Amino acid sequence: MWVSLIGYMASGKSTVARMLGEHALLEVYDLDAEIETAAGRSVAEIFAADGEASFRDLELAALQRLPAGADLVLACGGGVVERPAAVELLRERGAVVWLDATWEILRRRLHDSPPARRPLLERGWDGLGDLYRARLPLYARAAHFRLRGDLAEPRELVSRVLAAKLRWERRGAREGT
Ligand code: S3P
Repeated sequence: MWVSLIGYMASGKSTVARMLGEHALLEVYDLDAEIETAAGRSVAEIFAADGEASFRDLELAALQRLPAGADLVLACGGGVVERPAAVELLRERGAVVWLDATWEILRRRLHDSPPARRPLLERGWDGLGDLYRARLPLYARAAHFRLRGDLAEPRELVSRVLAAKLRWERRGAREGT
């Protein structure tokens, strides 16, 4: 099964995914990296040359290429929830875990982190805050589990994600899937 981490930019998806790979020996995929490798271009270049809709097409195609039955953890880009087909695929493949955080915390992290792979930072703080609020219901609808990523250390989050994975597997076993 997949454990897919979703959430806004800077919610800690990549960090938690990497640690899950180290601690739980799960294979780790980073969706942005998959897109860049396949396209031979950076996320920023794709946004600049082809626009966001094309990027979302590549994002969905990258998801479709990942091994369906593998035991893996996937750090998704923050906008993966914009495409219903991508959400549907993630939910079919396994547990979808939302790393949530307040806008104030995310804003601070975005401010302090380099803008790699984040062309949307061009929208400015008001635009990014609006996007965060607009996406909250999309994350809520996509996720099977919601974790407050800003209230726990990454190590603690790793344990909680693994607990969610276990619950998901038990639920599947009960339902005979
Ligand atoms: C995006 C988030 C980025 C990356 C791209 C678009 C978004 O990933 O996929 O810049 O729409 O929120 P991170 O969430 O890993 O920064």
